[in-house]
Amino acid sequence: MTEAPHLNAIRQSYDTVAADYATFVKDPGALDPLSRAVLAAFAELVTAAGLGPTADVGCGPGKVTAYLSGLGVDAFGVDLSPRMVELARAAHPDLRFDVGAMSALAADDGELGGVLAFYSTHHLPPESLPGAFAEFLRALAPGGHLLLVTRVGEEEHQRRTYGYGGGDPAPFDSYRLPTDRIAGLLEQAGFAVTGQTLQAPEEGAKRPVAGFLARKPEGCRA
Ligand SMILES: C[S@@+](CC[C@H](N)C(=O)[O-])C[C@H]1O[C@@H](n2cnc3c(N)ncnc32)[C@H](O)[C@@H]1O
Repeated sequence: MTEAPHLNAIRQSYDTVAADYATFVKDPGALDPLSRAVLAAFAELVTAAGLGPTADVGCGPGKVTAYLSGLGVDAFGVDLSPRMVELARAAHPDLRFDVGAMSALAADDGELGGVLAFYSTHHLPPESLPGAFAEFLRALAPGGHLLLVTRVGEEEHQRRTYGYGGGDPAPFDSYRLPTDRIAGLLEQAGFAVTGQTLQAPEEGAKRPVAGFLARKPEGCRA
């Protein structure tokens, strides 16, 4: 199957900035209390359900994968960028990290107990989100949980051309959708949205951050 062109663009850009990003991004333990509470709630849900491992899709340098693991979650990471995966493996040699796309997970139907997408879905053009959400649903066991955290906006498309921390130039397309649109797409994919958070932009940021907890319904055969 031929790859969608936007995936190659994302891969190349994150390969370029991977080392800067790994330095720039906060350790999850230093995140604000609500972000940590949402991750803790997700960790509690997936460990209590005990349905299978949790995929951190778009894991980057693996800091959040390792944080989840520290909360007792059987977590592994998946990222499009081979350089990010190299850095994640080097920093967390005890954990599994795979190169791959969130829209084609290397997991059997119903194999996963959890899927985390932490600031990783915004690079997908909106028309690609239904396919990614359908893939999360397919890979999750019935009763399994998804946590998606992303900045939201009014159907905005931004193009940045510089790297994290002012590093090497690299283009990044980002799409900021309204919370209702994201929740609606999750429901259309077959998820039951079980919780939503909305955080005002922190100092220096323009857009609020939304968190979506969603569950694959029992009896769902997708
Ligand atoms: C902003 S970084 C977030 C990394 C990590 N989740 C964190 O919070 O530190 C976005 C990551 O998502 C990855 N990514 C973007 N689109 C992806 C896709 N379709 N499949 C897999 N990974 C993707 C990028 O390569 C990048 O490493």
